[in-house]
Amino acid sequence: MKTFKIAVLPGDGIGPEVMAEARRVLAVAEKKFGFQLALTEARVGGIAIDVDGKALPEETVRICGESDAILFGSVGGPKWESLPPNEQPERAALLPLRKHFALFANLRPAVCFPKLTHASPVKESLIEGGFDVLCVRELTGGLYFGQPKGRHEENGEPVAVDTMIYKKSEIERIAHVAFKAAQGRKKKLTSIDKANVLENGVLWRATVNEIAKQYPDVTLNHLYVDNAAMQLVKNPRGFDVVLAENLFGDILSDEMAMVAGSLGMLPSASLGLKETPTGRFGLFEPSGGTAPDIAGKGIANPIAQILSAAMMLRYSLSEHVAADAIDAAVRRVIDDGLRTGDIWSEGTRRVGTTEMGEAIAAAL
Ligand code: NAD
Ligand code: IPM
Ligand code: MN
Repeated sequence: MKTFKIAVLPGDGIGPEVMAEARRVLAVAEKKFGFQLALTEARVGGIAIDVDGKALPEETVRICGESDAILFGSVGGPKWESLPPNEQPERAALLPLRKHFALFANLRPAVCFPKLTHASPVKESLIEGGFDVLCVRELTGGLYFGQPKGRHEENGEPVAVDTMIYKKSEIERIAHVAFKAAQGRKKKLTSIDKANVLENGVLWRATVNEIAKQYPDVTLNHLYVDNAAMQLVKNPRGFDVVLAENLFGDILSDEMAMVAGSLGMLPSASLGLKETPTGRFGLFEPSGGTAPDIAGKGIANPIAQILSAAMMLRYSLSEHVAADAIDAAVRRVIDDGLRTGDIWSEGTRRVGTTEMGEAIAAAL
């Protein structure tokens, strides 16, 4: 039987709660579709700081490196916010993991299911008939990683420095990912920048225009990031694939998640160049965080984590039938009227994290 090695990193806050449900669904998928997952759990984030003294233990990196894919929860939270910034879970674990495995292509599919239009804060008339956008976010460059970065004093006053920097080749490779994705969808690509102010934006736009010549079947348009943030709520159906640099993609993908109904529904795949026997090595995680406001209450929406597991089956393991079946199972449970608190509305049945996971596993 085909066996895959998966590193499972639940992390902090709601991470372990939603990860348990993804594992429940994966266990059903294994039986039903005839493959085996050798899951190895490893500590990451705040829990690793507490137990191992650092957010990303070598052991965890080793387990990830020996796996076909990483299934990741979320890291961070109030408990670790008073540590020095570069020791905190986000900067000491998640960003280094993305960089270590060169996971430059972050795919975030924001889809509003037909029965969930009421969960969106956007007027139903604007998303009726479907909101379905793929955010392609550059993940290993820009302000997140640019040097110099740090804090110092000038004339006794604290100064902070972050550097936005992109090489042309970094823009080219993510643009190819976005154009190829658009070819498999509605063939429409919106590239985001701030070319009216930032040198990075000028290079971004020129490079994307150059790459566009190789994809004549894709319609390309450019939007400044501020206008894009506005258009996403004014005319959400006007988008198909959205290409953005690291920080702009971070911000806009949260907005897209909400237009689609909830951050708790938005999965992600972070892919690099490393091939596995059955696809591309990647890290798969919900786009949202550890949700400290609801952690420990058993009410978090596990769907983003479950759909991230489906993306893992699709991109790293090439188990397409199983991935599609998990997507379909999620849809069926939503159609049946089950809702966690974040997507609940009158006339639907409010359930907790576990019940939602069990229902999806049963539907599968
Ligand atoms: P967040 O994404 O954790 O939460 C924002 C809001 O969305 C909260 O109201 C939360 O309850 C809600 N939400 C998020 N996921 C949900 C789910 N599955 N079900 C229901 N509601 C959900 O963002 P934040 O509050 O700004 O950050 C909290 C912590 O998480 C911070 O430490 C932050 O750095 C970290 N974070 C980690 C990741 C990651 O590990 N990938 C991503 C984002 C934020
Ligand atoms: C995300 C998160 C991370 C990011 C943080 C936690 C570092 O917000 O994955 O969207 O900004 O990339
Ligand atoms: Mn984010």
